[in-house]
Amino acid sequence: MAKVSREKFKVYEGVFDNMTLETLSLIKQRKYFDELKNPIKTGKEGDVYLAKKGDEFRAIKIYRVTSANFKKISQYINRDFRFRNVKGNLRKAILAWVQKEYRNLSICHKVGMNVPYPYRQYNNVIVMDYIDGPMLKDISIENPSKFFDYLLEQIYIMKNEAKLVHGDLSEFNILVKDQIPYIIDLGQAMTIKNEEDFRDYYDLYERDIKNIVVYFNKIYKLDISEKEVFEFLNK
Ligand SMILES: Nc1ncnc2c1ncn2[C@@H]1O[C@H](COP(=O)(O)OP(=O)(O)O)[C@@H](O)[C@H]1O
Ligand SMILES: [Mg+2]
Repeated sequence: MAKVSREKFKVYEGVFDNMTLETLSLIKQRKYFDELKNPIKTGKEGDVYLAKKGDEFRAIKIYRVTSANFKKISQYINRDFRFRNVKGNLRKAILAWVQKEYRNLSICHKVGMNVPYPYRQYNNVIVMDYIDGPMLKDISIENPSKFFDYLLEQIYIMKNEAKLVHGDLSEFNILVKDQIPYIIDLGQAMTIKNEEDFRDYYDLYERDIKNIVVYFNKIYKLDISEKEVFEFLNK
C-alpha cells in the first residue's frame, strides 16, 4: 500500500484498524469514492459513513473486524449453505459475512428491488448508493396502506425472485425516500435454494413479516391480517 494514500486517512487512525485503513485507501484509489465524510451511524458491528463521489453521495459500510458480536454472525453463517465451510477464526467469519451482505444486495438489485446499489465490496467494506431518507421508524408515512402494499411487493420479489429471507426486517432496516421503501442491512439474509431451506428459515421469515404487520397495525392503526399477508406472499 502506497504510503501517500495512507496519509489521507490519517485522521481516521485510531478509529479504524490497519486493515480497514488500507482497504479504504485501496477502494478510494480505484475511484469508488473521492472523500470520506461523517459517520451516518455507528454501531456494535460496524459503522456507516457518508462519502462523496463527484456530485453524488455514497454510503460506506465498514464492519469491525474485532467485533465482539461473533456469536450472532456465526449462527447465521452456519445456517447459510453458501458459507457452511467457513469455520475457524473471527476475521474470516466477518469477511464472509460482509461478502454475503454484498452478494445479497447485488441479487436484490438485479431482480429490481429497491435496495442501495452495491458498487464494490472489499475486505470488511461495502460501498453502496446513499439513500437520502430516514428510517421507517423515524418518519410518518403519508399513505400507510399504500406504502405497506409497496413494501409487501418488495418482500414478494425478495422471496420469490431473489430467493432470500431477510432475517432482520423491521422499521430499523427500511429507509424511506420519497415515500418509497428501501430495504437495507442484508448481512444476515438467507438464501432459499429449495423448499427444505425455506422450511429451515421459516422462523426468520415469519418473524420478518410479523414485525412489519405489527408495526403498521400499531403505529398507523391499520387492520392488516397476517394470514392474508402470508397467503399473498406464498402465491
Ligand atoms: N445505503 C445507505 N444509505 C443511507 N443510509 C444508510 C445506508 N446504509 C445504512 N444506512 C444508515 O446506517 C444505519 C445502519 O445500517 P445497517 O445496514 O442497518 O447496519 P446495522 O444495523 O447492522 O448497523 C441505517 O439504519 C441507516 O440509517
Ligand atoms: Mg440495521
